[in-house]
Amino acid sequence: MLHNLQIEEMHAEVESPEKRARALLGQMTLEEKIGQLSQVNGSGHHLHDDIRAGRIGSILNEVNVDEINEAQRIALKESRLGIPLLIGRDVIHGFKTIFPIPLGQAATWDTESVRAAAAVAALEAASKGVNWTFAPMIDITRDPRWGRIAESLGEDPLLCSKLGAAMIEGFQGSRLSDAGSIAACAKHFAGYGAVESGLDYATANIPENELRNVYLTPFKAAADAGVATFMASFSDLNGVPASGNEFLMKQVLRDEWGFGGFVVSDWDSIKELTVHGFAADDRQAAYEAASAGVDMEMASSLYREQLPALIESGKLSESRIDEMVLNVLRIKYESGLFENAYTDPHRFPALVNADHRKLAKAVAIKSCVLLKNDGPVLPLSVEHLSDIAVIGPLADDGYEQLGTWVFDGESHHSHTCLRAIYEMAGDKARVHWAPGMRGLRCRESVGLNDAVAAAEQSDVALLFMGEESILSGEAHCRADIDLPGQQEALIEAVAATGTPIVLVVMAGRPLTLGKILDKVAAVLYAWHPGTMGGPAIADILFGKESPSGKLPVSFPRVVGQIPIYYSRKNTGRPPSHDSITHIDEIDGKAEQTSLGMSAFHLDAGFTPQFHFGYGLSYTKFAYRDMSLSTHQLRMGETLTLRCVVENIGERTSEEVVQLYIRDLVGNVTRPVRELKGFQRLPLQPGESREVTFALHTDDLAFYDRRMELVTEAGGFHAWIGSSSDPELWAEFEVVD
Ligand code: NOJ
Repeated sequence: MLHNLQIEEMHAEVESPEKRARALLGQMTLEEKIGQLSQVNGSGHHLHDDIRAGRIGSILNEVNVDEINEAQRIALKESRLGIPLLIGRDVIHGFKTIFPIPLGQAATWDTESVRAAAAVAALEAASKGVNWTFAPMIDITRDPRWGRIAESLGEDPLLCSKLGAAMIEGFQGSRLSDAGSIAACAKHFAGYGAVESGLDYATANIPENELRNVYLTPFKAAADAGVATFMASFSDLNGVPASGNEFLMKQVLRDEWGFGGFVVSDWDSIKELTVHGFAADDRQAAYEAASAGVDMEMASSLYREQLPALIESGKLSESRIDEMVLNVLRIKYESGLFENAYTDPHRFPALVNADHRKLAKAVAIKSCVLLKNDGPVLPLSVEHLSDIAVIGPLADDGYEQLGTWVFDGESHHSHTCLRAIYEMAGDKARVHWAPGMRGLRCRESVGLNDAVAAAEQSDVALLFMGEESILSGEAHCRADIDLPGQQEALIEAVAATGTPIVLVVMAGRPLTLGKILDKVAAVLYAWHPGTMGGPAIADILFGKESPSGKLPVSFPRVVGQIPIYYSRKNTGRPPSHDSITHIDEIDGKAEQTSLGMSAFHLDAGFTPQFHFGYGLSYTKFAYRDMSLSTHQLRMGETLTLRCVVENIGERTSEEVVQLYIRDLVGNVTRPVRELKGFQRLPLQPGESREVTFALHTDDLAFYDRRMELVTEAGGFHAWIGSSSDPELWAEFEVVD
């Protein structure tokens, strides 16, 4: 048996993670190798013997730093080869300081906010011994019924790629081995966001061309950003469950993209290959996953139980196991764990400290999207209001404002909206607080009268409605995405008082708001805003800040429009506003109106309720003077697009300037619009700035019929504006 000291010296002598991993591999027994491929849940005494014997490579869901340090001590000092453990945890949108849900963070369209939030999450998690997070989730999704849309970065490949890469940078820092850096995980590879009817764990059928042009794009960006790990999805992709999908994990991930980290399964997803009907038994399931490219097994123990027999029988070669082990060991070396496996929490800043709270508030402010502001009723002025009604249980619920996937977040850290409004009102205005209902899903009208009374005596009614956190997230899908319970009735009752309503929606997904939109003067979509949601929202409502979030996903009018997304294909019969009859005009009038034979729903039209990239502010921005550096772009060259954006209103705000293109003719049809760039721009009243975008011909590439990435010569349209319905337009041509 090697002495631990000898092993440490051996580790120090060899240099690169690759060399060190290979040297170590040479010392390992088959049991120890398989141990590195096994991740188990929790920690504690019952696992110590297995850790000592080298049968465990990683644990998840342990955040007690003493337990973790003890497990690391056993791994380092008492196991034969002294290999440290990876400690995994779902640190999704914060650890103790909770930031807006990822979909809310995506609404910031701000890579720096997303990076900084992930860096804080990493720092807090690392202070407890966690060295690996299962984030970011970069599944493109166009289905708000899917509960996990809350964890996503929305519907668009470019936005998701840029924000996903920023999150990875935040988690992993400049070096994985730095204190406060933790390994990230690009999940769920792949197609999970396209599960049929938005039903979690269901099947996804995505043609390869669509897969490559849309769903794989953010994963490629994650690999390019140096993400340490990937997670295989639970779902079946085109008949082959992702956890046994060689095309994804071998052909695309390793051979085409050259990914050097490791792939972990999802929870029990290897075992579930038998449930899918893809493997006859556990042995075949282990074989399919290992040979397809899953390096580490989460939760279930098929690798441990089945790999030895698979190797003995010659079905699986030991060299395949060696590749898998090397993938894991390389990341362990890169993480610096062989040198620094222990965590001293005292060397880290305090959890939920003032700086972290300040950042959480700033990100929450940028994530709020103003969807409607008639009057304008917002911003409110405490100087001019004497009575403010605050209605809805979400106004004062520290837990619900945190959102889904907050294993470690605590509601007592939350600053609620009600508290923030009291603080804002001070002694200048009276606040009349009435929850209005017992719970958001309650169907009884308990509390409704109090809410109406509060509104009656107020100048404005602030209604905090939406969804509790339990209604989104894993396995929490909805077929109906209206406001649940009695909420619409409550809004109607308050509206009947004549007091103007400002509706603040907290939710994990886009909701269908059509039935109540005309009852309210303003709608601020706040997602689940996290620990500092209260003061962030109050600052916006009372005009200390201007809203600047933009939708990262289209909002349908009704569920029947799903999937609805801005980058649709044109079809042979595209609808236009001239060719269709609007929903309201249909009733009783259908015969008098000529309906175009085009792609729209008779009862919903063809536009979403709110389109991708949309979001109002308290000021107005004027777009003008779009110019292109050339109208004939040669292959391999870069086009510069410019325009001037001016703040023509009276308030300072930030504008997210968006660049879209359309490739007019393609070997495969191209979307009617594709986001190609975005910039957040702070502008004072009266200030104007020139905005510049650079577009290389590689940025116009797409996967064609042969699945080759090509930029084709031909005509393009370009737009710059404040949403996917942009203000400025130009055209150019790519020439060979
Ligand atoms: C299942 C989820 O699909 C995945 O995203 C998560 O990271 C693991 N469970 C671990 O909790």
